[in-house]
Amino acid sequence: MKILVVHGPNLNMLGKREPGIYGVATLDEINAAISVLAQELGCDVTFVQANGEGALVEAIHGALGCCDGILINPAAYTHTSVALRDAIAAVGLPAVEVHLSNIHCREEFRHHSFIAPVAVGQIAGFGPDSYLLGLRALFTHIKKGIV
Ligand code: DQA
Repeated sequence: MKILVVHGPNLNMLGKREPGIYGVATLDEINAAISVLAQELGCDVTFVQANGEGALVEAIHGALGCCDGILINPAAYTHTSVALRDAIAAVGLPAVEVHLSNIHCREEFRHHSFIAPVAVGQIAGFGPDSYLLGLRALFTHIKKGIV
C-alpha cells in the first residue's frame, strides 16, 4: 500500500511558525514520525509540501495510478480551495484530512472545510499526532476495502 502525504502552505515553516498554536516540531520531524509509523504498518509513504495551490493540485493528480490513498493537511487552502477539493474528487482516492490545531475552536473562518465533504474523515487538534492518527485511520479504511 502506498500513501501520498500532502502538506499545504506555510507548513514548511513549522517549528518557527506560531509555536503556541502549531507546536515546535518541524515538518522534517513530523515526516520522520510518519515514516516510522508507516514502516510499522507496512505501507510506503511519499511526501509533498507546496505553498501554491497549483502544485498541490498537480501532486494530487500524480497520485492517481500509483497511490492507494492521500493523507492531507491542506492548511489555509482547507478554508478556501474548491480546486483542491475537486482534485481529490477527480482522482477518487480515499483521503483523510488532518490539522495540527483544532480548527473548530479557532476563528470562525477556519470552521468551514472545502475538503471535508470529499474526505473519508477529518482529524484535528492533536498536534503532530493528528498525522499519525490520520495515517492509522486511512490505512485501516483502505485495508477494509471501503473506498
Ligand atoms: C492548519 C489549520 C489551518 O487553519 C491553518 O491555515 C494552517 C494549519 C492546522 O494544521 O492546524 O495553516 O491546517
